[in-house]
Amino acid sequence: MAVSLIDVRQAAAMPGLDKDTPVGVIGAGTMGAGIAQVAAAAGHPVKLFDSQPGAVGRALERIGTSLERRVERGRMEASARTAILDRLTPATHLEDLSDTGLVIEAIVENLAVKQQLLARLEKIVDTTAILASNTSSLSITAIAGALTEPSRCVGMHFFNPAPALPLVEIVTGLATSKATAATAQATATAWGKQPVRAKSTPGFIVNRVARPFYGEALRLLQEGAADPATIDTVMRDAGGFRMGPFELMDLIGLDVNYAVTSTVYAAFYNDPRYTPSLLQKELVDAGRLGRKSGQGFYAHGDAATAPTAKLAAPAPKPAEIELHGDAGLLAPLVAASLAVGAVAASPWA
Ligand code: NAI
Repeated sequence: MAVSLIDVRQAAAMPGLDKDTPVGVIGAGTMGAGIAQVAAAAGHPVKLFDSQPGAVGRALERIGTSLERRVERGRMEASARTAILDRLTPATHLEDLSDTGLVIEAIVENLAVKQQLLARLEKIVDTTAILASNTSSLSITAIAGALTEPSRCVGMHFFNPAPALPLVEIVTGLATSKATAATAQATATAWGKQPVRAKSTPGFIVNRVARPFYGEALRLLQEGAADPATIDTVMRDAGGFRMGPFELMDLIGLDVNYAVTSTVYAAFYNDPRYTPSLLQKELVDAGRLGRKSGQGFYAHGDAATAPTAKLAAPAPKPAEIELHGDAGLLAPLVAASLAVGAVAASPWA
């Protein structure tokens, strides 16, 4: 079921959902709030539903605060912020989503719960409505398997934070229709995102490629090689990553990150490369989920102190560094050393 270039071209020519079409977002946590903001900013009326009392209210507050910050920094007109907030409506019952043309679920990463939700939703929305899942790793084929009409189910995998990050993986299961995938792709484009197509393989593209980033960092920690702040600092400052693995896991949510690893591990028949970390499980069991719970690998919140990396103590400058052969990747280091007069590097000196 490879996606042909023709499918992708057809999708590019396909119009996305009309802006007047109401969009439903289920799950008002980290991702649901962000996705709701993106859809409302693109002009859709958005209905936000969560099974936990108070969750939608808190999500709307968070969206309001983040938009307010943008206005204060001169990045958004106050009128645009008001218009976005006006388009966001809390939904008290799932039935309130009956007039939506696209529903994106961003609830707990659990196959049975997602299947149950979408099967219920299928009976509420119109037969033409698209049912999308923001799952990070669960099979879209399996989620859709619970539906009477699985062709209308597609993955729309946004990245965290959804309002800021452009990538959206449009994930097709075995039964996803071309029209469903094309509309999801065109809608993501109309929302200012950069969609890519992926088949419903474990972890899709990004989460598959990213597994070793988290997994090896957790193994290093478990082996006592270095602490989280040191590993993060090395990856960020020397490795060129925007965030280190531990600060990224704290942002994602340790429960979500652990669930994704467990799913990918199981989906590949317990391939040891994807073995979940006991250390991470311990934190999840303790409710230390990262930023959203105030504590993960790091403490978060106003009173939290910034962690410090254990870097090598400054040492006296060597009088001379001798290098033999081609400097290769070290060439910039040699040039920098020479520029500050710190060393006379041989044979370049
Ligand atoms: P979260 O824990 O911040 O929020 C989940 C929300 O869903 C909670 O408010 C919860 O009350 C609600 N919920 C749970 N079961 C529900 C149900 N049956 N009906 C209605 N609401 C329900 O989780 P987060 O991080 O927003 O993740 C949600 C989904 O998005 C997961 O599938 C996750 O894998 C995926 N995802 C997460 C990313 C991240 O960085 N956190 C990135 C991309 C995707």
